[in-house]
Amino acid sequence: MNKLIVKGKNKLYGKVEVKSAKNVLLPLISACILLDFEVGFLNVPKLSDVDVMLNIIKCMGGSYRYENDTLYVDCSSLHMPEIPCEEAKKIRASIFMLGPLIARFHKASTVKPGGCNLGDRPIELHLEVLKELGVEISNGDYIYLKTDKLKGKKIVLPIVSVGVTENLMMASCLAEGETFIINAAKEPEIVCLANFLNRLGAKIYGAGTSEIRIVGVKKLSKNITHFKPITDRIETGTFILYALSAGGEIEIDGADFVHNFELIKKIHNNTCKIMLSSDKIYIKSSGAGNGLGFIKTAPYPAFPTDLQSLTLAYACFLRGTTVIEETVFKTRFKVVDELRKMGGQIDLLDSRAIVKGTQYMHGAEVIAPDLRSGAALILAGLSVDGVTSISGLDVIKRGYDRIDEKLRLLGADVKKG
Ligand code: UD1
Repeated sequence: MNKLIVKGKNKLYGKVEVKSAKNVLLPLISACILLDFEVGFLNVPKLSDVDVMLNIIKCMGGSYRYENDTLYVDCSSLHMPEIPCEEAKKIRASIFMLGPLIARFHKASTVKPGGCNLGDRPIELHLEVLKELGVEISNGDYIYLKTDKLKGKKIVLPIVSVGVTENLMMASCLAEGETFIINAAKEPEIVCLANFLNRLGAKIYGAGTSEIRIVGVKKLSKNITHFKPITDRIETGTFILYALSAGGEIEIDGADFVHNFELIKKIHNNTCKIMLSSDKIYIKSSGAGNGLGFIKTAPYPAFPTDLQSLTLAYACFLRGTTVIEETVFKTRFKVVDELRKMGGQIDLLDSRAIVKGTQYMHGAEVIAPDLRSGAALILAGLSVDGVTSISGLDVIKRGYDRIDEKLRLLGADVKKG
């Protein structure tokens, strides 16, 4: 049952709800390491990436529990600041735990993390910024970190990195003095993490801009019992693209259109009608429209790399040409070979994909090479005549909660196989 079988050409109708964002839950769970009390997160989806992070918390002595879709994490009894090897290898976001571990315990260890198959994903910058705060690091098969005291500093990031900005924010909120992060990432997930920490007494200023100032405090306090993370802009974008490509009329509840502005700007008027309100997106589409011209992925607020594979799959069905340049993970084109099996007309030239829309896409047996490529293959499956069999449902479950059920409720013919 690790396959999804999609029979295409059903239009999508109805409502779908998006839950809290995977990419903020992973740093929020890491941030709990800083706390000696329990906190509940609302509206949490069941994702295997979340499960792996929770298992790491448990292995280190912490605990968690669910009440319906509220996730409670309690790190009061966490006492072993060693990220277990097997779990670290499963998920790259385990590296986000180093900042909070070193801040609370003054020592930590891990192995080089694994994660989604996006090519080489280095971690040297995570370690460099912690060194700048006064951490000694021995970096071999195992990575050991220790410090007497974290001291705030001005740190200029050589590249914009979401995870490094988050790691540094979590480490420096308990450091002595002030930390300035220059060239910080500006993603909504960073603002959400800063809001969470500030509610607990941290002093983080400027999150969402390229300069963040953190004034270290001695301890975080139990000012809140629950926190509502932002909803998942990538899940939202996924359903927008599904509706556009398959056609139909859907409402995406819980969606924040501001976080998907670049996507909406691109697809606006492409044989679809979109209505936006504070927590809903309504979209009506008659199916394929015109090629999207030129799209370049880059850090927020530009077009997100996490929607690149899905947009590429959508472009296969459009009239005309779309050129997509990937600037964040330059080799993130694993979906291309799979889409070619379905008839996709795609040329790769360095970090660009040139997609010529065709009417001759068809069902095929394909493999999800990574999370977002898996979601992209579902889009292709929903839009072609015939049956598409997608192996690698496990990979898709890392970031999508019950995607088959949600699509079935919208009228798609999707089942596990
Ligand atoms: C986060 C997201 C991921 C998204 C990515 C970019 C989470 C859990 N994941 O990943 O879904 O695709 O942001 O929006 O939030 N880099 C280095 N050295 C380092 C760290 C990063 O060279 O030590 C490079 C990466 O290879 C990449 C660039 O920095 O080219 C940006 O990656 P980064 O923002 O760090 O991605 P993540 O935080 O891992």
